[in-house]
Amino acid sequence: MKLILCKTYEEMSSAAADEIAELLQVNPHCTLGLATGSTPVGMYRQLVRRYEKGELDFSEVTTFNLDEYYPISPKNDQSYYYFMHENLFDHINVAPENINIPNGSAPDPLAECRYYEDKLTANGFVDLQVLGIGQNGHIGFNEPDGCLYASTHITELTESTITANSRFFESEDDVPRKALTMGIGTILKSKKILLLANGKAKHDAISALLDDRITTAIPATILKTHPNVILICDEEAYYG
Ligand code: F6R
Repeated sequence: MKLILCKTYEEMSSAAADEIAELLQVNPHCTLGLATGSTPVGMYRQLVRRYEKGELDFSEVTTFNLDEYYPISPKNDQSYYYFMHENLFDHINVAPENINIPNGSAPDPLAECRYYEDKLTANGFVDLQVLGIGQNGHIGFNEPDGCLYASTHITELTESTITANSRFFESEDDVPRKALTMGIGTILKSKKILLLANGKAKHDAISALLDDRITTAIPATILKTHPNVILICDEEAYYG
């Protein structure tokens, strides 16, 4: 795992945007795997700024998001559909038909998971997957458990994730209890992975990434088996 240690969140966001810009230059038809949450917001801001300056072109890019709450309407301002449009898609020239996000209002969630995984498979998965990390070490919504799931699936959120994400909702009761998420196998099929982490709250999860353990109790530790991961983090996440 390559480490890019940054002094500030802005520096981290810029380093992450550099990785995407570099990929777009060599492969304008690339597929990006995208994450939501507060961590990548600065990176999305950078990408929008660079697009506005005419430095980036997303017209041939395909995107697949990692996850979505279930059930949730795309119109709900806490849905990841809404988040992605607000923070990125509405401000760049990505083609709407090239945007893929698990459908949080699909009547049959299992069929939706199969459809999403099949679409990723047909696409050859993603060239670059951006990941945040939960305080409990989750990636996507692959929560700590006795076993992990290989492909896109529906999952129950843990209490730790519900509490952490309640900051975005009016109350903890409003946080959906389930989510549709790419599986660990789906994520590991990405050609390259960019894991972003900032702030002290992520220190324990980042420490576990940097020692030699691989455990389903800290799902991100499985990234140690992937040959092309870049960890971009700030000093608070790294040193605690
Ligand atoms: C979001 C996602 C989650 C977040 C993680 C960290 O699409 O899959 O795994 O990356 O919960 O969230 P933040 O960045 O809000 O700390």
